[in-house]
Amino acid sequence: SILIVDFGSQVTQLIARRVREAGVYSEIAPFTTAEAAFARMAPKGVILSGSPASVLDEGSPRIPQAILDSGVPIMGICYGQQVLMQQLGGNVTLGESGEFGHAVIEITDDCVLFDGVWKTGEKHTVWMSHGDKVSALAPGFRPVAVSPGSPIAVVADDSRKYYATQFHMEVAHTPDGAKLIANFARHVCGLTGDWTMAEFRAAKVAQIRAQVGSGRVICGLSGGVDSAVAAVLIHEAIGEQLTCVFVDHGLMRTGEAEQVVSLFRNSYNIPLVHVNAEETFLAGLAGETDPEKKRKFIGGAFIDLFEEEARKVGGADFLAQGTLYPDVIESVSFTGGPSVTIKSHHNVGGLPERMNMQLVEPLRELFKDEVRALGMELGLPQAFVGRHPFPGPGLAIRIPGEVTKERCDILRKADAIYLEEIRAAGLYDTIWQAFAVLLPVRSVGVMGDGRTYDNVLALRAVTSTDGMTAEAFQFPGDFLPRVATRIVNEVKGINRVTYDYTSKPPGTIEWE
Ligand code: XMP
Repeated sequence: SILIVDFGSQVTQLIARRVREAGVYSEIAPFTTAEAAFARMAPKGVILSGSPASVLDEGSPRIPQAILDSGVPIMGICYGQQVLMQQLGGNVTLGESGEFGHAVIEITDDCVLFDGVWKTGEKHTVWMSHGDKVSALAPGFRPVAVSPGSPIAVVADDSRKYYATQFHMEVAHTPDGAKLIANFARHVCGLTGDWTMAEFRAAKVAQIRAQVGSGRVICGLSGGVDSAVAAVLIHEAIGEQLTCVFVDHGLMRTGEAEQVVSLFRNSYNIPLVHVNAEETFLAGLAGETDPEKKRKFIGGAFIDLFEEEARKVGGADFLAQGTLYPDVIESVSFTGGPSVTIKSHHNVGGLPERMNMQLVEPLRELFKDEVRALGMELGLPQAFVGRHPFPGPGLAIRIPGEVTKERCDILRKADAIYLEEIRAAGLYDTIWQAFAVLLPVRSVGVMGDGRTYDNVLALRAVTSTDGMTAEAFQFPGDFLPRVATRIVNEVKGINRVTYDYTSKPPGTIEWE
């Protein structure tokens, strides 16, 4: 295994992901408890993360001495490089100008990290984000790559098996970064790379049992993939100690609520409380057009109904949630500055404080595609696991303006046609998310001999790896006209269809 020492970087979880991709088990420990984690895990390698701190600050995070004394291979990234240099006798100075964003490094010498990836003399794009820089190498190290902003972009000490980079190899902006991490795991630490999702499942089951003991757990199902995978995993760990509650707000797509209920009750035999609350939600949304107020109402009503059901089943000690890593990171400030709420996500926060329960969040370090792999591992059907993400507030945020039953039904019909065509064209799995938005706009059209004055629909489809950034999907030429024609012909109430080409940023994926 590999221990990742977290110095507080926003992208530490990406290091863990890359190590998992290399087929190696890893754990992240904050630098404050890293020594104990190191002793417990006895890892074959250690990776040091970046940090918002500066090694020049008094009291800034340090590598535990026990790790340096152990003889285990170490790889430092950004702050991890600087702190390694500083603690081993090198020097770090305040850079007059830092390097932020894309940078081109030149490879100046061979290094095991570059095996099969980079050769001496080549130039490659990497992602930099640092103010300070290493001004003197620690004894035993040699530089193996340079960047315009630093003569010490990558350093190596082969006798101790210590390596470090100034750039962030864990982010997608460093295209070859994952291969460097795999080289560290395999060629430096000698790990074989045969770790799989099956082992993740077994490790999580053990962790859930240890956390929960004989306590009771309640899990809110949203109808989506994440909460379903979390619930099935927790059920595997603690069986009857788990109760699932599905607060059905009636804002799902055609047939989706029924699918979830049948999956749990019939395929998995997991007891499920199905609260049919469509009327409550529609009544509460009546007359509301403000996006944040709609989100807040839905989040609040969801919590109220969930609490009521929790009381009915006699309460619980733990609350299970299918929170993923991108949910966590989008909910904290991304820049380190004051955090701005773009949208109130109704799946994170709120509930735990009010219900005074401990959280069980077994998917917290995973990304969407990893959750899908885990779902398959747990035997969930591919068609369910491969479903596009669907937002907690459901169709309500795909109907700008007032939400009514009639508008939900119109949207459901149009959305179903759009998705049917996407599946028929074999594009469903290439697209991250595709959906229709019913606009609060009417337009004039002509059908047969008559004038129409009806609703406008927007179609959206994006590609993405984690929902944090996204690009509009480019359909083959005849696809959108065909869908537009079908929708206008088959869905009463819509007479015009448009396509949304905005990427994220500056747009968001959903319209509200
Ligand atoms: P945005 O629109 O912020 O969406 O670009 C990013 C991803 O998050 C989904 N989304 C939500 N998911 N509760 C959720 O569980 C929410 O309140 C929520 N709002 C947006 C969205 O569908 C996309 O996948």
